Amino acid sequence: MDKFLIKGPCKIKGEVLISGSKNAALPILASTLLFDKPVNIKNLPRVKDVDTMLNLLKSLGSVIKYSKNKKTVTISKSKKHNVFVPYSLVKTMRAGILVLGPLIAKYQKSITSLPGGCLIGARPVNYHLNALKKLGMKYKIKKGYIHARSNGKLKGNNIKFPKISVGATEQLIMSAVLANGLTLLQNCACEPEIKDLTNFLKLAGANIKWIGKRTLQIYGVKSLKSIKYTVMGDRIEAGTFCIAACIAEGDLKIKKIDSNIINTELNLLRKTGAKIKTIKNEIHVKGLKNIKSVSNIKTKEYPNFPTDLQAQFMVLLCKANGRSIITESIFENRFMHVAELRRLGAKIIIKKNKAIIHGGSKFQGAELMSSDLRASVALVLAAIIAKGKSVINRIYHLDRGYEKIERKLKKIGVNIKRIS
Ligand code: EPZ
Repeated sequence: MDKFLIKGPCKIKGEVLISGSKNAALPILASTLLFDKPVNIKNLPRVKDVDTMLNLLKSLGSVIKYSKNKKTVTISKSKKHNVFVPYSLVKTMRAGILVLGPLIAKYQKSITSLPGGCLIGARPVNYHLNALKKLGMKYKIKKGYIHARSNGKLKGNNIKFPKISVGATEQLIMSAVLANGLTLLQNCACEPEIKDLTNFLKLAGANIKWIGKRTLQIYGVKSLKSIKYTVMGDRIEAGTFCIAACIAEGDLKIKKIDSNIINTELNLLRKTGAKIKTIKNEIHVKGLKNIKSVSNIKTKEYPNFPTDLQAQFMVLLCKANGRSIITESIFENRFMHVAELRRLGAKIIIKKNKAIIHGGSKFQGAELMSSDLRASVALVLAAIIAKGKSVINRIYHLDRGYEKIERKLKKIGVNIKRIS
């Protein structure tokens, strides 16, 4: 298994190009099952999860043509199709569950594995299944598989999600676009990646309208048109590099990202003392030696502070002067990075879903173990400012969601090497 060798401390300077958003690409790719005609999708990130989703689509009967750099695909249908989604695939990539709705909407049948839980939590799909039932999907769970079908096409209905869920919102948007009649979705997640999905489907002729901050009105259509679409930039990757610049007294230009969608994160970084300027698709971050602590941060659904940047921000607070508190309110177990940060010298106490961070840490390099995707990148950030050598093991977690991260980091001054 690959590992990273990082020699710190490093200063960060230069510019970085942000890749396409993994969490926008995955539902957009799943929704191609709804199409009869070819669809051309640009700016895909070259990350493991996207490869996994493309392989899943191929196993379901899609024909995929890649551009030379594999960042653009043209997806069309073959004569035959398949509706079986294996556990082997969904266990490595939870977003595999997102093909369930499109398969029912299109073929009225699917045998899809339940996604296993993962390190950050149990991650059930009850909101997905209960809502799909309201559109007419019938299912039985046997040996970890969802045996689902519908009698004819799905029928529009009114659905109010019990809790805000990114995946459940995406699942129901895709399932409703070909259903008969009107579907009203209330208490939706409204992350930018979901807006990217609705923009993509509207361009293809779907009748979707945001009639409230968290309310969607969808009239089913007969079919979708052949389109070309460019996936949005990855706001979590962009946020990660902004935090990197703040941690390493950096001077960094982050390009190819709509700065408006990460205002919450940028304002929080300004509160720690960073100097941040934004132009349309570019962010310029200057990190200072003195980092101010932030008394109370809580991860919440968009447009609040995202859980996917919690681990990275915690590393910054370890270096800040004074005490900070982070509350993780989305996932039940998303502090896997804390034990590893302590090995570098971090002073963090966990009380239920709160992390109390005593700042002023001077990290010493150490051997570290990755766990989930975002915890792993937090260890990279910590190793960048640690004095001496750090080894980060099991970086396959990182390869799931960050495109060529060591190349991007090397280019801005980080002493990092991948050891296979
Ligand atoms: C998406 O996961 C993202 N993944 C996650 O990013 C992100 O952390 C999460 O949204 C929250 O923003 C993708 O987009 C591929 P949820 P998702 O449904 O859809 C509970 C990354 O690092 N829940 O909004 O699975 C759930 O357990 C990943 O890129 C139910 O109880 O998140 C969680 O506690 C990690 N029942 C909360 O809701 C359900 O049916 C929010 O989950 C669904 C969710």
